[in-house]
Amino acid sequence: MRKPVIAGNWKMYKLLSEAVDTALALKPLVANANHCEVVIAPVFVHLKTVADRLEGSNIRVAAQDCSTEVKEGAHTGEVSAQMIEDVGASHVIIGHSERRQFYGETDESVNKKTKAALSFGLTAIVCVGEMLAERESGNAESVVKTQLVGATDGLTVSDMERIIIAYEPVWAIGTGKVATPEQAQEMHGFIRRTVSERHGKEIADATRILYGGSVKPDNIAGLMHQADIDGALVGGASLEAESFAQIVNFK
Ligand code: 13P
Repeated sequence: MRKPVIAGNWKMYKLLSEAVDTALALKPLVANANHCEVVIAPVFVHLKTVADRLEGSNIRVAAQDCSTEVKEGAHTGEVSAQMIEDVGASHVIIGHSERRQFYGETDESVNKKTKAALSFGLTAIVCVGEMLAERESGNAESVVKTQLVGATDGLTVSDMERIIIAYEPVWAIGTGKVATPEQAQEMHGFIRRTVSERHGKEIADATRILYGGSVKPDNIAGLMHQADIDGALVGGASLEAESFAQIVNFK
């Protein structure tokens, strides 16, 4: 059985005190959530403080990106996967559409970052998803497949066991336009079949595939009832402890 994952991507929101307050407010609200893994992703500079304050809780901490570079060196502004692991984070989001659209992320860099993350024991949450024009022109599946194949190129079976895939259609991010559960399921099924063709059925059946894009307390249940939706990557609704906890504790 695949254990669901509900992850909150805080993007570039919150000052340190606000991040700590939200994390501490969330702790008791999700303390009994044994049915899923709970992850929050603050900005780099808050990772250690938030991870320290959540120690011993059931909330894991993720970075929102990592360097393609594995070894320390002269890479001004970069943060390595090892540094992320060293401060107490366990996950890293890689290839988010905002990074692909605005910060030059490519399938090749996503692949390198994924390998870097895995080499230090982090769980990589690898994001894929098509733009509106790509969906409207009937190319959604081919775009997602290219991203997926690019991200996972050269990964071994044991690597694949430690990645989580997040399908985030770009047209649904921050727009309030959630994909219907059926639209999301259709793509999640396609992603699982693609993983199966490339890495085998056993890996495909075990891989968690999260949906992201305008997930809210009132639409999470419909999404989670779909066969191939194993959780959510939540943006806006993860910024408040109460709404994120409602998503975690979906019925
Ligand atoms: P929203 O939930 O705000 O649409 O953001 C989704 C997202 O980008 C999560 O990574």
